[in-house]
Amino acid sequence: MERPYSNLRCIGCGRDYPLGEVRYECDACSGLLEVAHDFDRLPPVNGAAWRRLFDTRLGTVAGIHQSGVWRFHELVLPDLPAGEVVSMPEGNTHLYSSKRLQEISRTADVRIKHEGENPTLSFKDRGMSAGVSWARHLGARQVACASTGDTSAAMAAYAAQVEGMRGVVVLPRGKVSMEQLSQPIAAGCLTVSLPADFDECIRLLRDVCKRLSIYLLNSVNPVRIEGQKSIAYEMAQQLEWDPPDWVVVPVGNAGNISALGKGFADLRALGIIDRVPRLLGAQPEAAAPLARAHREGYREHVRVKAKDTVATAIRIGDPVSYDKAVGAVRASGGAFISASEQDIMDAKALVDRTGVYVCPNSATAVAGFLKAREQGIIAAGERVVIIATAHGCKFSQATIDYHGGRLQGVEPRFANRVVEVAASASAIERLLASGPEGPPLRKDGE
Ligand code: F0G
Repeated sequence: MERPYSNLRCIGCGRDYPLGEVRYECDACSGLLEVAHDFDRLPPVNGAAWRRLFDTRLGTVAGIHQSGVWRFHELVLPDLPAGEVVSMPEGNTHLYSSKRLQEISRTADVRIKHEGENPTLSFKDRGMSAGVSWARHLGARQVACASTGDTSAAMAAYAAQVEGMRGVVVLPRGKVSMEQLSQPIAAGCLTVSLPADFDECIRLLRDVCKRLSIYLLNSVNPVRIEGQKSIAYEMAQQLEWDPPDWVVVPVGNAGNISALGKGFADLRALGIIDRVPRLLGAQPEAAAPLARAHREGYREHVRVKAKDTVATAIRIGDPVSYDKAVGAVRASGGAFISASEQDIMDAKALVDRTGVYVCPNSATAVAGFLKAREQGIIAAGERVVIIATAHGCKFSQATIDYHGGRLQGVEPRFANRVVEVAASASAIERLLASGPEGPPLRKDGE
């Protein structure tokens, strides 16, 4: 057999393991593993040639290159034969210019990359396409993940594409949205609900997977990160290979921010871009171990007990990819920041009002960006891309509660109340007669 292009490598001690082995940590030091590619052996050989290759694949209408992950196949999993890829396809998400955010923050260039436009409405489809493809390649019959909702939705959809593969998802009871919960049920996964928070769900599941040899598809699985990296590639390509100064992203288990760091580092190593963006990771105050670690100069590994937050998908106190995330953020000259519930929902209302509908987790990144501007971490002349990680429609209850003034501890400052009138033409007419400047959107004294 040909020598493989990629290995598993410990980020702590550098020890290598074959990529074909199922393992999630280093035997020697328990460090996290990453996939290390021998890019030197790949043709073509310079940045311009790589850019041309990826650009010629844009607009492909058939085959794996129509995917925003597998357009970059050589940099994702070069050892996986093209015929074994499991793809919906995913990626190719829009990069929206946000004039409103530019005005409010007085920043030169602010865009939102909307990963909620993926097939299961979150960014997780990128990593899961790689993870499930590799699971099938290894012959795994069962795949499993613990999840705050989106990972399970993605795994369920991709596992459903593979005949004979069973998905098992473990969810914290009452802590995922109805829309998220419906996804693994619909796609035929074994859906298990525990009276526990996410941190406990993943701890328990890791143990069970080890004992029963079930393939674990949480982002501690380094293959997931390889697919996830494609956000960085795709963003750079959309910006004609001229990356922004900052990329802002909500952080939970910290896989995505680690993947962004690795993705941009790959592009620079290959000469495809000439500098990497700084990374800003945003967490809700209710679950902000990395923001605290940043404030404290990364003196020690911070774990917290996560409290309730509107950003339920990032309600995580002990992120699995902590060390990778800290490494990526520090290497980029970036930061971690936290945002209050009020700031998260205000930021969400602001972006939603522009017609780009985001979820509370994504809004945490928007709030983090606005705070970073206020604090001067991000400068006025800089170019910023904020990653919206999931679609607002996956978390509709938060939107409805906010606009209805029913979100505990949050003032509905930008509420757009539903107006109830009698079922008669005259009642509707009275409401509309005076035009857009007419009656207030809610009755006095309400
Ligand atoms: N945004 C959304 C919508 C998410 O679902 C998640 C993570 C994140 C941000 C944070 O990304 O974990 O890579 O730092 N959701 C995981 C899940 C934990 O189980 O769906 P991260």
